[in-house]
Amino acid sequence: ARVAILLSGGGSNMVALADSMVGDHPARPCLVLSNNADAGGLARAAERGIPTAIVDHRPFKGDRAAFEDALQAKLETARPDIVCLAGFMRILTAGFTDRWQGRMLNIHPSLLPKYRGLDTHARAIAAGDSVAGCTVHEVTAALDDGPILGQARVPIAPDDTPATLAARVLTAEHRLYPAVLRRFAGGDRTPVMLG
Ligand code: GRF
Repeated sequence: ARVAILLSGGGSNMVALADSMVGDHPARPCLVLSNNADAGGLARAAERGIPTAIVDHRPFKGDRAAFEDALQAKLETARPDIVCLAGFMRILTAGFTDRWQGRMLNIHPSLLPKYRGLDTHARAIAAGDSVAGCTVHEVTAALDDGPILGQARVPIAPDDTPATLAARVLTAEHRLYPAVLRRFAGGDRTPVMLG
């Protein structure tokens, strides 16, 4: 299977996914695509010999459909079977998610359905939760709301700040996302539950 990875930032999840797709793994990375020309993940992909592309969202202003058409054009050149959102910070409309339904995954830094959206770690700490984590789910038109394909639980320490918790959850993401992708690429949608 051919996997395209969309990112907006440093790309640590992309690195974890790319470095897992070796040997008898049924998938290989075919494109790393970013909305941000300065995304550190682009250089990390190039270092690994993975084709990269950029579609800056800013020239499209509010025209999400036009931005997504540009993303689609880049994706069509790479012919992915699976699209992985990995720290991709743009909201996608139903026009795009419908096209990729059943073939597009996302990782979100909370134990969904808790804490959809942003600032998940600060919200979990503020709520006095003792457990946090991350979720890989199929992407649907509803934000952070598709069928869950995996979760990893991470303890919240009493002295945790959003930054220290984020770092611990990110390490769990790097275990969870590759495990889910390997199972998903093999046609198995049984959820992966870690920690
Ligand atoms: C992190 O906040 C992570 O929790 C979320 O996306 C952000 C950037 O991740 N999934 P990455 O290092 O760019 O993969």
